[in-house]
Amino acid sequence: MLNELALSVSQWALKNIGREWIDYLASNTMNVGTKRVAPFFWTYDCQAKIINVSHETHDTITIELLPNQHVAQAKAGQYIEISVTIDGQQHSRCYSLSQINRETVAVTVKRKEGGLVSNWLYQHAQRGMCLPISHPQGHFVYQGQAQVLLISAGSGITPCYALLNEMLAVEPVVDVVLMAQFKTPKDVIFAKALQGAASSCQIHTLLSRVEESAKQSVITQLEQQPELLERDIYLCGPAGFMDSIVDYLTIKQYDLTRLQVERFSFDNAVVVGEQCLSEIYFQSHNTTVKMNEADKGKTLLEIAEAHGIELEHGCRTGMCGSCKCRLVQGEVTGNQLGIAVYPCTAYPASSKVVIG
Ligand code: FES
Repeated sequence: MLNELALSVSQWALKNIGREWIDYLASNTMNVGTKRVAPFFWTYDCQAKIINVSHETHDTITIELLPNQHVAQAKAGQYIEISVTIDGQQHSRCYSLSQINRETVAVTVKRKEGGLVSNWLYQHAQRGMCLPISHPQGHFVYQGQAQVLLISAGSGITPCYALLNEMLAVEPVVDVVLMAQFKTPKDVIFAKALQGAASSCQIHTLLSRVEESAKQSVITQLEQQPELLERDIYLCGPAGFMDSIVDYLTIKQYDLTRLQVERFSFDNAVVVGEQCLSEIYFQSHNTTVKMNEADKGKTLLEIAEAHGIELEHGCRTGMCGSCKCRLVQGEVTGNQLGIAVYPCTAYPASSKVVIG
């Protein structure tokens, strides 16, 4: 009851008083008492309250969040980091925003094997709950092109759906095509909304795990796109799927500088396998690291740091792309797209690895 009242007051205040005024008032009256009475506003941290949880599919929910006054305005295609406390330990994961409204944002979370934070959110997220979040981040945002193709697989629909809604809302309306691949009809996320949007643009919902006669793939659909080379492409999905699309586009001599990609959050525990003690050469620092027993199970970024090498990085969760390197020699597991490797979420998997 009290929780519900606090939530209504928070919603009302953000809508009617505005973020700047709340920030001004809270920062000038910050003390132990105000922090205790209304910790959502009387804080220096970015937080969000859950205002709604709705089911999208049998294993996917959308969580609508009311961020407090500290959280910057989001753009479609960006993501936020959400932290939860599980068994006394804080864990954080990044989630693409699926909806952006004036006061609220939403993330769409899929329950999955080994997905520690996603599974926790799926089971425990409820109205009124307050969660630490980050500012919206990421560069997978619409850049004003007139002809766009959005390609996604599975949960990769999440940022594409936000982008689609943004593109359909601008004037003049963008010529946009969405190709979204799912396994079966029951896995189609935002099914109703996509059906509704189909009157304003081309939507192709493709199913990959159905009987042979009904199977469709993005590649087959791409074959039927006469103006493929004219469109700017936004791509989001699992690594293998993204690899196959990039390979196809390369064969078609598509200008890859017009391709924007977004990787998944690596909430799944990556199978690092029986790790050998690799020798890793970081070309950018002209330094070779010989892994020791303590390096086993660490990411390439963590190994580099443990040996005094500072690699450029941002989110450390495989989302922002700022740690992107080239795999020159050897093998890695985890976050890899073609020869692109994301050391924050990739692991050495051969005796010699060269990172460019
Ligand atoms: S993708 Fe952000 S640090 Fe690696």
